[in-house]
Amino acid sequence: MVRNTQVSLCGIKLKNPVMPASGVYGFGGEYRDFYDPNILGAVVLKGTTARPRFGNPTPRVAECTSGMLNSVGLQNPGIDAVISQELPRLREFYHGPVIANISGFSVEEYASCCGKIDGLVDIIEVNISCPNVERGGMGFGTDPELAAEVTRAAKGATAKTPVFVKLSPNVADITEIGIACQEAGADGLTLINTLLGMRIDIRTKTPVLANKIGGFSGSAIFPVALRMVYEVSRVVHIPVIGVGGISKAEDVIEMMMAGATAVQVGSENLRDPMACYRIIEKLPNLMEKLNIENLVDIINIAE
Ligand SMILES: Cc1cc2nc3c(=O)[nH]c(=O)nc-3n(C[C@H](O)[C@H](O)[C@H](O)COP(=O)(O)O)c2cc1C
Repeated sequence: MVRNTQVSLCGIKLKNPVMPASGVYGFGGEYRDFYDPNILGAVVLKGTTARPRFGNPTPRVAECTSGMLNSVGLQNPGIDAVISQELPRLREFYHGPVIANISGFSVEEYASCCGKIDGLVDIIEVNISCPNVERGGMGFGTDPELAAEVTRAAKGATAKTPVFVKLSPNVADITEIGIACQEAGADGLTLINTLLGMRIDIRTKTPVLANKIGGFSGSAIFPVALRMVYEVSRVVHIPVIGVGGISKAEDVIEMMMAGATAVQVGSENLRDPMACYRIIEKLPNLMEKLNIENLVDIINIAE
């Protein structure tokens, strides 16, 4: 029997629910030597800001057991270069859905970037959860009123492209933020971004990251992400993209049962550049084993 892996996000059809998470896949070209990106459900672009950013000082990544820390700090060429150079370059070899990831340091900056890229991509993911910048970023994602304000501004600046808001796990109650974004007009939610973490070099007695604190990601955070997707999916009616610690096809099924319509694979791509390929290839076999005919049938079925 043919297994149907197709899902849809706000009317946008994805051939399968698997896409790389923002920040681990650049602007789409980096993995071309490994596999054809056209096998992906969608491509998610690196976090983009109004002006180009060099990011934080190095070292800005550190290995951990079953995960990693990063404090990259939104290195990117800026929204104008993404629109004039990165997007056209990506379209030369990739023909599927594209999700832009937008960050800002003020509500106006979010609105301006969203307005510029409206209609040029399939989904705009508004990142209100970056832990690696001093101002803005996560500050917007930890207060329901600010989260709603950014969402309203992004929606007000866009007319064509659905807006998903990417939530931070570094809050007491993520459902509160999810509901606030939904009420402010979000078309969907992506969760989770990284958890705050730290390492110390015991020989030098200094923090490993130049920025001291960074975002923790990778397979260790999967149960946290799953719990949050489960909690949020039970209280909102807009689609949820699940992200955090996904490293194998089984995780995709589990995340969808918790409520995700699609999933993003982050750090696992840095450990194994073939991760998305491997997961997508395995999905139909796993569906057969689990007696799943249509992947959409399992979304949110966990009790
Ligand atoms: C090196 C690195 C850079 C990241 N950059 C971004 C970014 O620019 N925008 C964003 O929304 N999330 C960013 N993230 C967070 C990921 O998209 C994802 O939410 C998080 O890593 C959890 O997923 P994972 O455990 O599969 O890595 C970044 C993560 C890593 C590891």
